Parts: sequence; C-alpha cells; structure tokens
Amino acid sequence: MYRIAVIGGDGTGPEVVREGLKVLDAASSKFGFKYETKEFDFSGKRYLATGKLVDDNDIVELKKYEAIYLGAVGDPEVKPGVIETGVLLKLRFALDQYINLRPVKLYNSDFCPLKDKKPEDIDFVVVRENSEGLYKGMGEFKDKGTKDEVAIQISYNTRRGVERCIRYAFEYTRKRNRRKKLTLCGKTNVLTFAWDLWQRTFNEVAKEYPDISTDYAHVDATTMWFVKNPEWFDVIVTDNMFGDIITDLGAMIQGGMGIAAGGNINPKGVSMFEPIGGSAPKYTGKNVINPLAAICAVGMLLENLGEEKAAKAVEDAVIKVVSKNLKSLAAGKMGYSTQEVGDLVVKNL
Ligand code: IPM
Ligand code: MN
Repeated sequence: MYRIAVIGGDGTGPEVVREGLKVLDAASSKFGFKYETKEFDFSGKRYLATGKLVDDNDIVELKKYEAIYLGAVGDPEVKPGVIETGVLLKLRFALDQYINLRPVKLYNSDFCPLKDKKPEDIDFVVVRENSEGLYKGMGEFKDKGTKDEVAIQISYNTRRGVERCIRYAFEYTRKRNRRKKLTLCGKTNVLTFAWDLWQRTFNEVAKEYPDISTDYAHVDATTMWFVKNPEWFDVIVTDNMFGDIITDLGAMIQGGMGIAAGGNINPKGVSMFEPIGGSAPKYTGKNVINPLAAICAVGMLLENLGEEKAAKAVEDAVIKVVSKNLKSLAAGKMGYSTQEVGDLVVKNL
C-alpha cells in the first residue's frame, strides 16, 4: 500500500492534480498496485487566510509517505518569494530532495517550436542540483537603501552536495541506457570557485563510470545547443540556478509548460513530483489548462515507486493523446477541456 501525500495548491494546481489522480486510479486497477492518498493544504490561499506555511511538524508528517504529488503553489496576492521559500523550497530542503529531475522529451513534432526537429532529436534529461547553489539563501545587504548599497548573493557548493548530485547523474545515465553520455553544464570560465569544484568532482567520479562518455558545455552555449542541436544531449548535470533556467527552455522545446513534469528526488527519502508550469492563475477554474504535465508527473512518481510498467503505460497513453487527439498543448487551445484530456489518457491506458 503506497501512501501518497497530495498537495493541490493554488490556481490550476488542484484541477490538474484531479486529472493526475484519475490516471493514477486507472493505473492501479490495471497494474494491481494499491495506494491511498491524503490531501495537504499548503498554498498561497491558506497563507493569506492563516499566515501558515510549511512547518517542521508538517515535515515530520510528510516523512510518513512514500511520495508527494504537488500541483502548483503561488498566489498573485502574496508577495513574491514568500510561498516559494515557505512552501516549495522548504519542502525540497527539509526533505533533502537534492535532485531535481526534468525529462525533456518531444512527443509530437507538430508542437515543437524548432524547425525540422523530430521526437528522436529531443529526448534528454536534466539532473539539476536541488539543495544548494544560489538557492541556499545566503548573502547580505550592505548599506541598504543608500547609493553605496551592495547586495551579495552567495552560491554555496559543498563537495558532498556536488558529489552526490554528480553520482546520481552518472547512475541515472547508466540506468537510462540510451546514448550513455553525460554532459556537465557550468561556467568554468567565469565562476572559477564553484565550477572548479564541480569540474574536479565530475572528472573524479567519471573514472568510476568508464561506460559513460562525458562532455562539458558552458551554460550559455547549452541554451544555444538546446535550440540548434538538442539531439547532442542525453543526460545533463548542472547546479540549481542553471538547472532552473535551462529546464524552462527545455520545457519549451518539448512543447511547452503543458507537458513538462519534474521530480524532486531524495533517493533514500520522500520524493515529490510536479508539473513545472506554476499555478497559472488566469486559467483557474476554466477547465482549459493542460493536465498532461501533471499526468506525466504521475508517471514519474510511479517509476520512482518501482511501478515501472505502470509508469511506461502512463507515458505511452500520454504519447497517444498528444499524437492523435490534441490540436495544441497550450491552455484553451487543446480542442478538449482539462477533464476531457484526463479522460482521454485514461481511455488510452
Ligand atoms: C521551479 C520553479 C521554482 C524554482 C520557483 C517557483 C521557486 O521555478 O521549480 O523551477 O526556481 O526552482
Ligand atoms: Mn523554474
């Protein structure tokens, strides 16, 4: 019996999660695994009503679950940064979900903004470090509010943190068993402390994986290759900030936020799966948002639980819907409502 914590969250989060749970339910009947869910209300709405974010007791409670399924958090009425740090980053950090795994896979070339790129050209995975770097929240103001003000934001990288991420990426590349190529994406030419550590660690760990070929690309060049030659990539490993940026670009070349999912992974703890597109407040309650990203997140969640057949079946069902039914992956343009898209996936499953 898998216990799954569900956080619908804000905006369109609850709507897409509902479709994801519909698919989870269908997958459980078909593949014979059992699960139960419990809803947790962590959201901007709850913060506005009660002032509450995620606290340490919540973390103790969440540690009793096998996985967390998250819709989206963020409310336009709350000052930027509060929900992000108090809910999303709090969960990632407190549960030590030190990997952010983001597959970039094109399912239908009609939905690719790049000319002449086919599904086999866009199929890679970004392994983003998810607990350190610029996200650590370290820094200070000096002479705040004066004309001499200085704002310092520190990128904090530990050997331990960098190494566990790089090891995960090598293991993942081996297990994925596709082109067996791992690219380190960094900025060794300018950020000479952080990326020296990353590069040294990468080179050392690489010696233990002679079956994996390695490569390096600066982050700016990486964005160029994503557009020009995405077929060069198999698995990419990078830090928290660069990973955040390049995975939004990755989402666009795979067809947009409507299809992009990610996992916040603690390989020995509780992992959390989410569509990466945010709460999309303007589409809330209209039944027009694309639930496929949230459904793909269910696929990733199942894979993480070891239900690999079910995970594969969910992905195959999504591929069918994306290639046979939908007119577009964008909200309001799919040719179907949010609920109908969920139903189509269930039918194909
Ligand atoms: C993401 C998001 C978050 C991040 C924000 C909402 C804090 O952009 O998951 O990529 O920057 O990691
Ligand atoms: Mn982001």
